[in-house]
Amino acid sequence: MEIIAGNSEGIEEVAAILKRGEICAVPSETVYGLAANALDPVAVEKIFAAKGRPHTDPLIVHISDIGMLHQCAVNLPQCVESLAAAFWPGPLTVIVQKHPRVPDVVTAGLPCVAIRMPGHPVLRELIARCGFPLAAPSANPFGYISPTRVEHVAATLGDKVHWGLDGGSCQHGVESTILNLCDTPPRILRQGPILPEMIRTATGILPQLHHTAVKGNDVPLLAPGTLLRHYSPSTPVVLCDNPDLHESDDPLTALVLWARPVGSTPTNVYWLSETGDAAEAAHNLYSMLHALDSGQYRRIVVQRAPDHGLGHTVNDRLQRAASRS
Ligand code: TXA
Ligand code: MG
Repeated sequence: MEIIAGNSEGIEEVAAILKRGEICAVPSETVYGLAANALDPVAVEKIFAAKGRPHTDPLIVHISDIGMLHQCAVNLPQCVESLAAAFWPGPLTVIVQKHPRVPDVVTAGLPCVAIRMPGHPVLRELIARCGFPLAAPSANPFGYISPTRVEHVAATLGDKVHWGLDGGSCQHGVESTILNLCDTPPRILRQGPILPEMIRTATGILPQLHHTAVKGNDVPLLAPGTLLRHYSPSTPVVLCDNPDLHESDDPLTALVLWARPVGSTPTNVYWLSETGDAAEAAHNLYSMLHALDSGQYRRIVVQRAPDHGLGHTVNDRLQRAASRS
């Protein structure tokens, strides 16, 4: 994979690649995505092929301005305006009724489409220069941990994806919150950086979480982010609440703590944040799992996050990373 710098020239080069109907890995403020022209079904097919992603799994459409929202969606509910004002550009995806112009392959044949306006300036500039919205799932092989650096994409999909636009390390480090506005009342299909209480503040509605995790990938999926096993490294992940520093006496076990422990630390002990800050821990989570999944360890023991706010989102991803089914 050729890594292209995220400057004006690089953005222009990638816009030209996407206009030719090719695919390219792109940065966002959540995780890296694998992008194609959302309005070109042939280009979008290339994403599914590169990721090994089942066609039952719809893609998020990324827009650079509100005009593009109206090109891709119809019958928008009123709350979209307050959600867009509060959270866009940013890590909120809304599911709304699709415009007939959006190809069925993007939405897996569903009547609704997932849309977000990303906060990363490189990606927004790229979409604006393309002049069309970009369909992009996370740029990982299906089921594996999402990439938060362009190097992660090169390491896992480098033989299938020819180009990657470098936008640095992703600010949030976990995928966007997905809010299904086609459901009444709206429900959260995937937890992310935008928390339910933040949505209540913006709209007056406290959305409930959609809880039915399904086990296989042969049933129609509402949001495969709800697959129990997802975001998983190859090395088995085990979760714990009260970590025992002696876990790491075994040289084949890595122990990942929520915060830096007091005093000297044994080898094979890592931490997601210096002082237990949830935003910092989320930012580091996938990067840490990528680094520890290089074959050096037989087991990765991770301490669960304090279960509130963004810690709840981190625990959701940890739970899926640890699931073997
Ligand atoms: O932060 C993110 O959302 C990243 C960046 C690249 O934007 N993208 C991402 O895409 O995580 P992906 O494809 O890995 O996860 C998108 C989730 C999937 O679980 C998919 O099933 C769900 O969104 N989804 C997409 N369109 C949908 C639709 N029309 N109805 C229900 N779920 C949908
Ligand atoms: Mg994904």
